[in-house]
Amino acid sequence: MRLQDKVALVTGAGGGLGGAIARRFAAEGASVLCADRDLERAEAIAREITESGGLAAAHRADVALAAECEDQVAETVRRFGRIDIAVNNAGVSLHRLALDTSLAEWQRVLDINLTGSFLTAQAAARRMVAQGGGRIVQIGSISGQRANMGGIAYGASKAAAMHLCKALAVELSGQGVMVNAIAPGPIETGLSHHGPTRRQGYLDRIPTGAYGTPEAVADAALYLAGDECRWVTGHVLNVDGGYGAAGLSYDASEVGTGGRAIAFQNLPRSDRR
Ligand SMILES: NC(=O)c1ccc[n+]([C@@H]2O[C@H](COP(=O)([O-])OP(=O)(O)OC[C@H]3O[C@@H](n4cnc5c(N)ncnc54)[C@H](O)[C@@H]3O)[C@@H](O)[C@H]2O)c1
Repeated sequence: MRLQDKVALVTGAGGGLGGAIARRFAAEGASVLCADRDLERAEAIAREITESGGLAAAHRADVALAAECEDQVAETVRRFGRIDIAVNNAGVSLHRLALDTSLAEWQRVLDINLTGSFLTAQAAARRMVAQGGGRIVQIGSISGQRANMGGIAYGASKAAAMHLCKALAVELSGQGVMVNAIAPGPIETGLSHHGPTRRQGYLDRIPTGAYGTPEAVADAALYLAGDECRWVTGHVLNVDGGYGAAGLSYDASEVGTGGRAIAFQNLPRSDRR
């Protein structure tokens, strides 16, 4: 068990990625506080974990509210005695063109995705430093690395949240707190309502040719949350099927190999072979 006797807080645990992370951590021996602003969803995950023999509890917290960021960390310690791992996963998306984005929409996305992550990490890190170490995992996004149509608020919030992990790593790693981020590519969850052209746009640019799964992100989070992650800090780990690495790709016959086509980014799916 890779997280035996560890205590973890997972925000947004009622959702697709958060649920998978909470389940995976619990299966590896961690006690998990499943926090979410939607208590019923958090309770459903916590119940699933406890019914399969794991240790978990549900907690309602809205990370847009500073006091609730602190409360969820305090509740983790109150329930389970300490906090070793904090996963900043709670997030909202907004698909809105730059010229149509209102100040209120902009602020809501930044409040949840960025300020909520900072305040939760700050509250957790204060305990972790006092305990002698810990792990903070920030869920970022490839949308914070490359600009997408209609993604100004979401992309900016995620870019800043991924920088947050580097800034925290610089200040906290010397005290045993490793801080890293994951940049997931597209994954089917409640948050990703992708229309057909957007979906095809992604599929044409992901070298593996497929969307990811919540479990792929949970596996990466498990590494970043565990003792094995002892000299990796301030890193952004892309879990994206190669999207972030890919540049121009085209039919291998154009390279003159005459062999099997190896990459097809600019070809319609129907032309691939
Ligand atoms: N699904 C994807 O394709 C994808 C890609 C990249 C990054 N992400 C990121 O992964 C994280 C999880 O997203 P998901 O895909 O599982 O979405 P999801 O909608 O399934 O889950 C998000 C969860 O966060 C909770 N939440 C929302 N606002 C909150 C708040 N203010 N306080 C507390 N909880 C709140 C929701 O209730 C929900 O349970 C997000 O940060 C998202 O930006 C997702």
